Amino acid sequence: MIAIDTLPGTTERYARAVDASKRVRWDIEKDVIRGRRFDTAQKFLPDGLSLAAEFTTLSPGERRFVSQIQGRTYANMFGLVERFITAKVLEISHDHWLGDQVALEALVRFSDEELKHQELFRRIETMVKDAMPEGYCFIPKPNDVAAAVLSKGTWAVLALTLHIELFTQLHYRQSVEPDDGLSPLFKDVLLYHWKEESQHAILDELEWVRHDATIGAKTRDEGVKEFIALVGAVDGILQMQAAADAHYAMNVMTTRGRRLSEAEQRTIERVMLKAYRWQYILSGAGHPHFVEVLTDVTTDMQRGRIQTALATLM
Ligand SMILES: [Fe+2]
Ligand SMILES: [Fe+2]
Repeated sequence: MIAIDTLPGTTERYARAVDASKRVRWDIEKDVIRGRRFDTAQKFLPDGLSLAAEFTTLSPGERRFVSQIQGRTYANMFGLVERFITAKVLEISHDHWLGDQVALEALVRFSDEELKHQELFRRIETMVKDAMPEGYCFIPKPNDVAAAVLSKGTWAVLALTLHIELFTQLHYRQSVEPDDGLSPLFKDVLLYHWKEESQHAILDELEWVRHDATIGAKTRDEGVKEFIALVGAVDGILQMQAAADAHYAMNVMTTRGRRLSEAEQRTIERVMLKAYRWQYILSGAGHPHFVEVLTDVTTDMQRGRIQTALATLM
């Protein structure tokens, strides 16, 4: 099938994304960081994301420490996924090179913003490193993950991308914005990131639906299979990182004189993984708009296969 430039009636939506991108554009140092540093007396991630209440045996201070570890991983995870998102957006922009120039501008701005976000999250990791105890390790390597993700077809990669950019918005609106106990700097990082992500989700959808219109049923079915495989690969990363973060948390607590029973250690490991699955998979997969778009491009049977795969992570 031949790639199509833009679907009829969508130029206006690309144009709105360009306008919004121009309106909200920000600078890492001047707008977000503003000479501030991280204060470990405050939480980084809100309770709704860190699942603070489920770390039942931990003190408020220990839960705050867990929210800081998870916040650090959150920043690193975004830096990670933005590597493959930027590459994919640049690749699909090819379909618009000699076509709809508004769509092309929207995707160029999108990839430029994701490059800036990667720089922001690298900067955050350096700053958080100075504020937190030694021993944290972010395991996955952005280029290895990007190469694995980009080995799948465009349908599956765009599905995963839309899911990620929708959960970013959901996290901000539902959990980050209403929480008054967060580090003002960490909250601003998520606020400014969210401002530019809102346009990305619109563009992901436009591009996914446009790409979907160019493929046949067999390729789409392969796309569903690859999307399920990608979600499984994300879960593999989460299992590794949750274990690393739980061990880092427990090591630091132990060096501070805390004694952790076997049962308590298992709870910390279990809830850490549960929080990460909620943050990076389940909150996006259940997002009403993701479900809506997915329903438009898949059959009941294909969605059933996705649901079955997701159910194993609950
Ligand atoms: Fe981003
Ligand atoms: Fe984005």
